[in-house]
Amino acid sequence: TILILDFGSQYSHLITRRCRELNVYAELMPCTTLLKDVHFKPKGIILSGSPYSVYDADAPHADPAIFELGVPILGICYGLQEIAWNLKGEVSGCESREYGHASVQISRSGEGSVDALFEGLGDEMQVWMSHGDQLHGLPPDFHVIGKTQTAPFAAIAHNSKPFYGIQFHPEVTHSPKGREVISRYVLNICKCRTNWTMEEFIGKEITRIRDICGPKGRVIGAVSGGVDSTVAAKLMHEAIGDRFHAIMVDNGVLRLNEAKQVNEMLNKDLGVNLTVVDASDLFLSRLEGVEDPEQKRKIIGNTFINVFEAEAAKIEAAAEEEEKKGAEGRGRVEWLLQGTLYPDVIESISFKGPSATIKTHHNVGGLLADMKLKLIEPLRELFKDEVRALGRLLSIPAPLVQRHPFPGPGLAIRVLGPVTREQVKILQQADNIYIEEIRKANLYNQISQAFAVLLPVKAVGVMGDKRTYEQVIALRAVQSEDFMTADWYVFPADVLKRISSRITNEVNGINRVTYDISSKPPATVEWL
Ligand code: XMP
Repeated sequence: TILILDFGSQYSHLITRRCRELNVYAELMPCTTLLKDVHFKPKGIILSGSPYSVYDADAPHADPAIFELGVPILGICYGLQEIAWNLKGEVSGCESREYGHASVQISRSGEGSVDALFEGLGDEMQVWMSHGDQLHGLPPDFHVIGKTQTAPFAAIAHNSKPFYGIQFHPEVTHSPKGREVISRYVLNICKCRTNWTMEEFIGKEITRIRDICGPKGRVIGAVSGGVDSTVAAKLMHEAIGDRFHAIMVDNGVLRLNEAKQVNEMLNKDLGVNLTVVDASDLFLSRLEGVEDPEQKRKIIGNTFINVFEAEAAKIEAAAEEEEKKGAEGRGRVEWLLQGTLYPDVIESISFKGPSATIKTHHNVGGLLADMKLKLIEPLRELFKDEVRALGRLLSIPAPLVQRHPFPGPGLAIRVLGPVTREQVKILQQADNIYIEEIRKANLYNQISQAFAVLLPVKAVGVMGDKRTYEQVIALRAVQSEDFMTADWYVFPADVLKRISSRITNEVNGINRVTYDISSKPPATVEWL
């Protein structure tokens, strides 16, 4: 395992991912974590970048004990300065902050060899810099292993201990050989074993779930048809069979035929014990006349909790009945399954400044308080791409594993005015045509998220000899790594043409289709 200490850089989670991509388990912890509180023995430590300068009065610092542990340490950007600061090097602010591409010249020793960190990477490499401070002198017992035109100490190594510091960011894709630098460190220098695979994960996780649930314990969990909840449900089913109960709430603002399709896939194909609750009337009546997006979100969130709790109570009552009758292996509902992923965990533990804040997961707060259930989160160590790999191993059909994300409040935040059954139906039809044509054109997997939006305006059109006055659909498609930023997707014109003509021909009430060409920022992915 590699321990990554997070000093608050926006790239810290990427370091974790790069290690995992090498099949080496890596865990991110706040930089202020004391070594004695780390529950594993790291084979190497990486210190991340940071928005701070090591000389700021409130600058965060690592537990000095890490330098006595005897394992390799790699400092990236601020991490380099943190090493120098600890080992008494000279750091000072640059006159000009340095952002962007730079070229690192890799140093050769007297015998012509390069340092193990850069072995086989040539004499020069392009890297990404983003820093304010830089090193102006070497800490005692260090030597230079790479420099740039403006940074004479861009990469340094200790003369006898496995301590390394680099000024650039190997974890970002703008450093093309960055992955190899991390691989040299993790595999060659730390000598980590490459045993972090989804095959191993499944076995271990199923054992862990069985252990914590015991021979009788029951688990309930909501499923949405999305990748995370489906993979989590299938994993629970593998571990405890029908003692896991999945509940899908049809809130009336799902995609066309979604509830039916999820039922078929989860229940019939994957064998998961699933109840679909049609609560669309309740949701739509509570949404009546509401235009404000935050209000829509709140209503849907609260109604979801009401419906889910009522359904869970029924399952609990049935279990109690069976237990009374002395049925073998019947126990109470004690656990709530939550499809939390590692980015949510990171979000809640990362170092955000002098006072690290712990965020409670917004989806479950209400449920847990009322239902006295314990939380089970089998995906909490995984990134999205790992969840997809896990899904494939669990035989979940490929189109589902690659599915675009779909927001909890569903089409309610894509019908821009008040939400009515009629408006939802129009949007469902348009959205369905849009996604169908994207799939036919084989573009679905190139796009991170695509959906239609129903605008609350009417436009003039002409059909036959008649003038029409109907609503407008906006199409959105984006490419994004993490949805924090996103670019609008450039469609081939013929695909857009087909989509537009099918929507205006087949969807009653729509006479005009527009394509959204806004990036995030300044726009967001959703319109509301
Ligand atoms: P924005 O619109 O914030 O969207 O750029 C980023 C990603 O988050 C999804 N999204 C939501 N997901 N509940 C959700 O479960 C929500 O209220 C919500 N709002 C936005 C959005 O679809 C995109 O993938």
